[in-house]
Amino acid sequence: MKRLDPLVAIVTGGAGGIGLETVRGLARAGMRVVAGCRDVKKATAGEAWTLDLARLSSVKSFAARALAELPRIDVVVCNAAVWPGPRRKTADGFELAFGVNHLAHFLLVELLRERLVATAAARIVVVSSGLHARGAIRWDDVQLERRYDGADAYAQSKLANVMWTLALARRLAGTGVTANACHPGVVATGLLRHQPPGRWDQGQRLTPADGARPSLHLALAPALATVTGRYFHRLDERKPAPAALDRAAQDRLWSLSQRLVAPHLTQPLHAPDS
Ligand SMILES: NC(=O)c1ccc[n+]([C@@H]2O[C@H](COP(=O)([O-])OP(=O)(O)OC[C@H]3O[C@@H](n4cnc5c(N)ncnc54)[C@H](OP(=O)(O)O)[C@@H]3O)[C@@H](O)[C@H]2O)c1
Repeated sequence: MKRLDPLVAIVTGGAGGIGLETVRGLARAGMRVVAGCRDVKKATAGEAWTLDLARLSSVKSFAARALAELPRIDVVVCNAAVWPGPRRKTADGFELAFGVNHLAHFLLVELLRERLVATAAARIVVVSSGLHARGAIRWDDVQLERRYDGADAYAQSKLANVMWTLALARRLAGTGVTANACHPGVVATGLLRHQPPGRWDQGQRLTPADGARPSLHLALAPALATVTGRYFHRLDERKPAPAALDRAAQDRLWSLSQRLVAPHLTQPLHAPDS
């Protein structure tokens, strides 16, 4: 029988790939699931709400709606990502991968943080990638204006995902809100459509349903209720790359992210998109 007050989850990029299967899995577990999507018409599971992570005003509208309509937020899965081809910018002028994969999720969680803490126990799951280990934060050119390669941009953003998760877990210590990151495996989704088979995966790609298992494990497993600040490769806890473990660098990324999204953090939340 369904609970009258179901637990509530938010999944970014919930209309396709691993995100759709994550929405389905959380709904199967009895949760009310909000799927944040660029195009709500594409969504086939959960409640589809407009969320364009390449536009921080959309992140704010989404957060405003969540705070207005969701009395509790038990799980946030930061799943959406892009792997850019040529260099492109978000509406706010950030390099696309850094802007969508990292900064927009940073802002979203900051805006939802009080509600998560009020709901606690709550869990934040950040879908990163094993490719974070190939990434570097280019502190002198974080928007990658001088030299651009889509794979480098993606790897930088996925390293930022892990560094942010670990910094977030430290800041949330004692609140009952956990933050963990994962690598879902190499999965046959649209993300890899321009990557030749075998480049990352010896030719084997998991199904999206299998790719969602790590996110679902981090979001739901009773054994992980208080586990925080960890990185999982599929279902196994692993040490992330050394660059991700550097606390001074995590804090530097935090300050930089805070500064870059500052106008959206300080101005009041406005009315939700229709
Ligand atoms: N596939 C893999 O092998 C693999 C490996 C390691 C890590 N990952 C990670 O797994 C996560 C899910 O990726 P996937 O493989 O499922 O890729 P995918 O099928 O391309 O899904 C990415 C999702 O992100 C959404 N998205 C992209 N830009 C957005 C924006 N501006 N605003 C809102 N949503 C946006 C997409 O929405 P649309 O449907 O509108 O495009 C889509 O739902 C990502 O974090 C990725 O880095 C994947």
